[in-house]
Amino acid sequence: MNDALNLLKTRRSIRKYKDQQVEEEKIQKCLEAAQWAPSASNKQPWEFLIVTDEQVRKKLSEIHPYARFVAKSPVVFVPLTNPEVHPKYHKSDTALATLQYMIEAHSLGLGTCWAGVIGSSIETEIKELLGVPENLNVLGLVATGYADEEPTKTRKELDDLVHYEKY
Ligand SMILES: Cc1cc2nc3c(=O)[nH]c(=O)nc-3n(C[C@H](O)[C@H](O)[C@H](O)COP(=O)(O)O)c2cc1C
Repeated sequence: MNDALNLLKTRRSIRKYKDQQVEEEKIQKCLEAAQWAPSASNKQPWEFLIVTDEQVRKKLSEIHPYARFVAKSPVVFVPLTNPEVHPKYHKSDTALATLQYMIEAHSLGLGTCWAGVIGSSIETEIKELLGVPENLNVLGLVATGYADEEPTKTRKELDDLVHYEKY
């Protein structure tokens, strides 16, 4: 197995975190990984917010019904999309940047879990809490920290997903 495939296959969503700080240099590398994602016409319709404040993380965990774990992850990466920069592809481009952040985090020994936000009823509340300008969207919340669990996951079989030449 080559290195990229190994990284991609061994990344798991982590929902339990150790009480251990994340080194600033590691977060910087994850942000660089996001920065270098591909995007339609290289428009880069994204901005990134990093939240470490314990009280703010606790509030986020109370607002998001499926992201209780952000109260315990020392860092929360918040990918923001700008629909004005690319109305058609702002979400998919920023999703790629988010995945690149997550893969780099995994390569550095960090766990992450993405919790979706964009288009949900809680997005406005999260924007208000984090002071996100009106013209931007919150794609999601990405908990980041040292894993305190080793979950396993399965995937659908390739045979059931792949078609060659014609469907
Ligand atoms: C767009 C998106 C939204 C997600 N939202 C949540 C969420 O709200 N809460 C959660 O616990 N996990 C969330 N996840 C994580 C998925 O549940 C997880 O990726 C999936 O179960 C596969 O597991 P794995 O990431 O360990 O391979 C989300 C993932 C994506 C890509």
